[in-house]
Order: sequence, then C-alpha cells, then structure tokens
Amino acid sequence: MADYDFDVLVIGSGPGGYVAAIRAAQLGLRTACVESRETLGGTCLNVGCIPSKAMLHASEYFDAASNGTFAKLGIKVTPELDLEAMHGQRLDAVKQLTGGIAFLFKKNKVEWLKGRGSFVDAHTVQVGDKTFTAKDIIIATGSSVTPLPGVEIDQKVVVDSTGALELAKVPEHLVVIGGGVIGLELGSVWRRLGAKVTCVEFLDQILPGFDGEIRKESNKIFKKQGIEFKLSTKVTGVTVKGDKATLTLEPAAGGEATTLEADCVLVSIGRRPNTDGLALDKAGLATNQRGQIEIGHRFETSVPGIWAIGDVVPGPMLAHKAEDEGIAVAENIAGLTGIVNHDVIPSVVYTWPEIAGVGLTEEAAKEKGEVKVGKFPMAGNSRAKTNHEPDGFVKIIADAKSDRVLGVWCIAVPAGTMIAQAAQAMEFGATSEDIAYTCHAHPTHSEAIKEAAMAVRGKAIHI
Ligand code: FAD
Ligand code: NAI
Repeated sequence: MADYDFDVLVIGSGPGGYVAAIRAAQLGLRTACVESRETLGGTCLNVGCIPSKAMLHASEYFDAASNGTFAKLGIKVTPELDLEAMHGQRLDAVKQLTGGIAFLFKKNKVEWLKGRGSFVDAHTVQVGDKTFTAKDIIIATGSSVTPLPGVEIDQKVVVDSTGALELAKVPEHLVVIGGGVIGLELGSVWRRLGAKVTCVEFLDQILPGFDGEIRKESNKIFKKQGIEFKLSTKVTGVTVKGDKATLTLEPAAGGEATTLEADCVLVSIGRRPNTDGLALDKAGLATNQRGQIEIGHRFETSVPGIWAIGDVVPGPMLAHKAEDEGIAVAENIAGLTGIVNHDVIPSVVYTWPEIAGVGLTEEAAKEKGEVKVGKFPMAGNSRAKTNHEPDGFVKIIADAKSDRVLGVWCIAVPAGTMIAQAAQAMEFGATSEDIAYTCHAHPTHSEAIKEAAMAVRGKAIHI
C-alpha cells in the first residue's frame, strides 16, 4: 500500500468539513483539514448561521422593547440602540465558536493545513508551496453568494449577506433582492432596528420550497410587521451614486420598468458551490450543470478515494445537512456504514415567529397519493397565547391509508426547536396517531404538534 501523509484529508472546514475531520480522527484515522480562512468553521460560523443568529437574537430584544411587547408584560423601558455593541457581541460569538473548532481540532489531533487547497492528482493536494498526499480526500468547500448579473457588490451600498451582517448604521431604506431565507432573516434584523424594508421577489410568493400555506401565512405575518413585498418582480439593474442606489424593476412576466430608491441593497438570490481553483480536472472530476459535484449515496464521487459533502453537492444548503454528511462520510471511509436520510432534513427560517418544516409539502405529498391534513393554530395553544405570540399554526400531512407522517410544517416562535420532535417522529416512521397519543408537557408550544396530529384524525381539543 502506498505510504500517504494522511489517511484522510478534508478540503474546507465548514460544518461539513470540520465535523468529517473530527469524526475521522475519532475513528483512528490520521486526519488533516485544509482551510484558507483565518478561522475555522466555514461560512456557517464565520459569516452565516452564527453571526446572523447573533443579530437576529439581539434585534428581537430591541424590537420587543420598542414595539410595545415589553410594555404588555409590565416592563417599562426606553430602548436606545448601541449598534457597535450589538456588532461586538456578534463578533464575540463568532470568535468563541470558531476558536472552539480550533480547540476541538487540537483535542482530536486533526492537523489544520492553512491555505487554499487544489488537486495535483487524485491522492495529492497542494496547499501553498507544499503538497500532501492522502488515501481519502473529502471535498467540503461549501458555497458562496450567487451574483446578480450586472449588479456589483461593493459591501457599502450594495451588499451580500456578509456585508448585511455588519452595516455600520441602520439604513433608512433597505431593499432586499430575493425573498428567500437570507432576505427574510437579515431583512427582519434591519427592520427591527428601524429600517424601512422592501423585498423584491421574482416568484409570486416568498420562501420557495416551503409548504404553500406556510408561504402565504408567512408573507402575511411579515407584511403585518412592516416589510413591504414586491412579488413577481425582477430587478434588472442597480445603479449607485454616492451613498444611494436606484433599482430598476420589471414585472417577472415582462412589462413596464419602474424604479426604486434605496440607501442599501441586499443581494440574496441564492448560493452556488465553491469549486473554482480546486483543479478538479487533475483528479479526474468534473461538476454538473449547476456547478455541483455529483455523488453516490455513500458520498463517493466518480473517482475512488474522493468524496464530497455539504453545499458543494446537490441538496439543500444547510449546516445540519452538511454536518450529518460529515459524520456519515467519515464512517464510510472508516469501513462503517454512514447514512443520511435526505427525506427527513428540517429547514428553519429564524425570523419572529420562526418558520420550520420537515418532509413533504402538502403539494408534493398530494402528487404522490391521497393525504390527510391536520392543522392547529398557535392562537389555540395556551403557552403561545400567554406569551402574546398568537401568530402561526402547525400542520401535519399524513398518508391517508397508512397514517404515516409525510410532512410537518409550523410557524411558531420556537418552531425551529419544535420541528426536532417532528423529524424524530418521521425518522422512526411515526403515524399521526403515534404523535397524538404521545404525552406532551403542558404548557408548551409543542402541544400544538400533538393537537395538529389529533386534528389529522378530526379530534383536536382546544379549537
Ligand atoms: P462552508 O461552511 O461554506 O465551508 C466551506 C469552507 O471551505 C469555507 O470556510 C471556505 O473558506 C473553505 N474553502 C473553500 N474552498 C477551499 C479551498 N480550495 N481550500 C481551502 N479551503 C477552502 N444553514 C443552516 O442550516 N442554518 C442557518 O441558520 C444558516 N444560516 C445562514 C446564514 C447565512 C447568512 C448564510 C450565508 C448561510 C447560512 N446557512 C445556514 C447555510 C450554511 O452556512 C451552509 O449550508 C453551511 O455552511 C455549509 O457547510 P459546508 O461545510 O458545506 O461549507
Ligand atoms: P434562497 O434560495 O433561499 O432564496 C433566493 C430567492 O431569490 C428565491 O426566492 C428566488 O426566487 C429569488 N430570486 C432569484 N433571483 C432573483 C431576482 N433576480 N430577483 C428577485 N428575486 C430573485 O437563497 P438565499 O436567501 O440567498 O440563501 C442561500 C442559501 O443559504 C439558502 O438556500 C439556504 O439554504 C441557506 N441559508 C439557510 C438559512 C437557514 O437555514 N436558516 C439562513 C440563511 C441561508
């Protein structure tokens, strides 16, 4: 057998790569991870999940203090925004968590190879002026922002998600291009901090991929909160003069152009896989039409010994999906059986309230066969009502014959936490009856899941 520098070499230290590296090392494999950023943790920890949640969390409190929610609870305050301090706590969260990965690498003896990695051949990767060989190589290079043709991101007036996380002042008018997850989360942050927010979405509804009713209801809730939507509208150009931008808009179906003035524009129209500069061809690999690396169910590419996971492969671009794939691929390399059930991957939008779902939408489930649907409004949930959080509902879609749960969708303040039980139930092949007859603690928002399951069978109590 050839003598390699490492058993496993991972390219990229995002949630896919760092988890794969740690798991491989835990399984006794000599492991290295190549990362070109100054800190480990990838998009998620540096400029994605973590900093966005730090701003979402802080802005939620500011909003609650400003919009009368605290007053309703008998707390009198006159809030004042200290944006610099808010950014400070964001940076602190990032520093602590990225530092945590560096600690875990040391603890598990994963070697961090600092620099950009590119293939020399199927078992050799160049990093700076050095080359390293490995028996198995995992590509976990993640994704970056999809540019909008003709629109230049200057990170001052026209920003991407990274720029939108660190604006030095609250814009008067923020225009968000794209009513997807980033647009809604970061649009919510700046609306809460005082910006007027307009969201321009190409499709006729926000949040593509989510259940139809959930999309409609979310739109209503965001409108009520003050976000303005221009649906079925495309942005055809953005011109910047000084610190102002003018957007040119057209109906998606074509028609007369209009303009919109903004002092900040967030481009959030999706992300694309990172493969530039990897020299995939030298390893005998290519990308598909969408720029992704195709894999089989064990995360193996078409070249033996090269594997790929996370945002760089087809599937939802989510940190927890990347993490689970990281564990599974390491286990497969170590000769175990690593599996990810891609049918049960929850999605969460961390707005107020949160929006979450797992499994099939009602539309997709109906295409496959007959279904039964149960719904329960959060307004009927005692805890949500007591907390003055009546918006939203839980919806459970079950197979009409077998009663097996096919999808669960919810809008509720802690929907991201609630969806975990739905994912677990689906992973265990639960029926709606199983959920309906599981004792849920009272008073919790999660009781709404039990009641929605009861409603599948026509029997919710509190409605
Ligand atoms: P990444 O996290 O993108 O990591 C890849 C790493 O590889 C990067 O650090 C990059 O520098 C490095 N790299 C790339 N090429 C090379 C190379 N040639 N050599 C060396 N290093 C290289 N997902 C969620 O599930 N929940 C959320 O709340 C959430 N919030 C988000 C908020 C924002 C603003 C954004 C932008 C994304 C968010 N995501 C969220 C998505 C999530 O960040 C990604 O799905 C996740 O980071 C993908 O992990 P990954 O390991 O595949 O790649
Ligand atoms: P997205 O794919 O969620 O949404 C992009 C939206 O832009 C879509 O609704 C699309 O129809 C619209 N769009 C595309 N082109 C347009 C145009 N020219 N004009 C107007 N609208 C246009 O992408 P987003 O929000 O950029 O996020 C990227 C990825 O990051 C997501 O797919 C998600 O997987 C991940 N993410 C996950 C989060 C979470 O899990 N909470 C948070 C943030 C990001």
